[in-house]
Amino acid sequence: MKFGILTGGGDCPGMNAFVRAVVRTTLNLRPQTSVWGVVDGWKGLLDNNFSRLNKLDVAGLTSRGGTILGTTRVPELATDFDLQETLARNLHDNGFNYLFVCGGNGSLKASNALNTIARREGLRTKFLVSPGSIDNDVCNTAGSSIGFYSALDKSLEMLEWIRDTASSHRRLYLVRSMGRKSAYLALYSGIASGAEYVIMPNEEVDFQHVATVIAERDKDTRIIVSESYPKSLEEIRTTLEAIFANRGIKREVRAVDMGYFQRGGKTSVTDILRASWIGYRMVQDAFEGCDSGFYTAYYTGHSPAPMPLEEAAADEASYDSIPQEFIDFALALR
Ligand code: F6P
Repeated sequence: MKFGILTGGGDCPGMNAFVRAVVRTTLNLRPQTSVWGVVDGWKGLLDNNFSRLNKLDVAGLTSRGGTILGTTRVPELATDFDLQETLARNLHDNGFNYLFVCGGNGSLKASNALNTIARREGLRTKFLVSPGSIDNDVCNTAGSSIGFYSALDKSLEMLEWIRDTASSHRRLYLVRSMGRKSAYLALYSGIASGAEYVIMPNEEVDFQHVATVIAERDKDTRIIVSESYPKSLEEIRTTLEAIFANRGIKREVRAVDMGYFQRGGKTSVTDILRASWIGYRMVQDAFEGCDSGFYTAYYTGHSPAPMPLEEAAADEASYDSIPQEFIDFALALR
């Protein structure tokens, strides 16, 4: 058998642990199998750029952030059917029986598209996809994305740092969080750090109410702003400053972006174990000749049945709308 591994979309902690798990499991269980990394993600598939991996190539990788394979975004892949066809054919022509993918929403949709072509045209490659994204915006009904909890750890630490300055200067900090359309990273980091307010992507924000929440607090106030909320930090700042001035609320406002810092650095233990477990399970299933599928898991040893790719790719609701129960929980802790 011949296996390929691809990391796609934005890098995230845990991708390397996934790569390591697939390589090690494969070569320990069936040493005659060859494993190849696709260099630079989806672009590498277009360029037929593959690099053979052995067990030593993946040594020391468990907690390392980023992806040693590299990743390059290819946005056209979402809509360009000729490109999809070329990639599906490249995999077939290079003799890959399985492609193991770790990536976010775009990678899941791309894998689904390629798989549809491959099945329709009788090509040999099957696709096993794991969710790798700090956004937690890949079907997450049975677990969360690899990288999400690592990014939360970083976010919490940064929010604690900014608390020091906020409280020393009696300031309100507006803190932008990554997450694209998904509010998970913003909301969870807000809850974990005890932030005063989290602005959700599609929220009709009542800034008078936000000002009241801030006025009730003593010193160290922070508001987390989801990436897709349409107003800029400067616009929010201007709005709040005007309300504060009007209502005699004494609070300076400053803005910072946690952005790319949330994405880098060490992988959390949860993500290392989740990524390793998923990689291990996928390889075992591949040796049994399984169909293409999407894998996710809450924790090591938890093995939900893999979902069909098209079902996972269609599941946008699970990250767009956070359950009301969770919002109630967040509000109760404020
Ligand atoms: O998907 C992960 C993510 O970090 C998003 O939260 C963010 O919108 C995007 O990637 C940024 O991507 P890039 O690295 O291409 O600027």
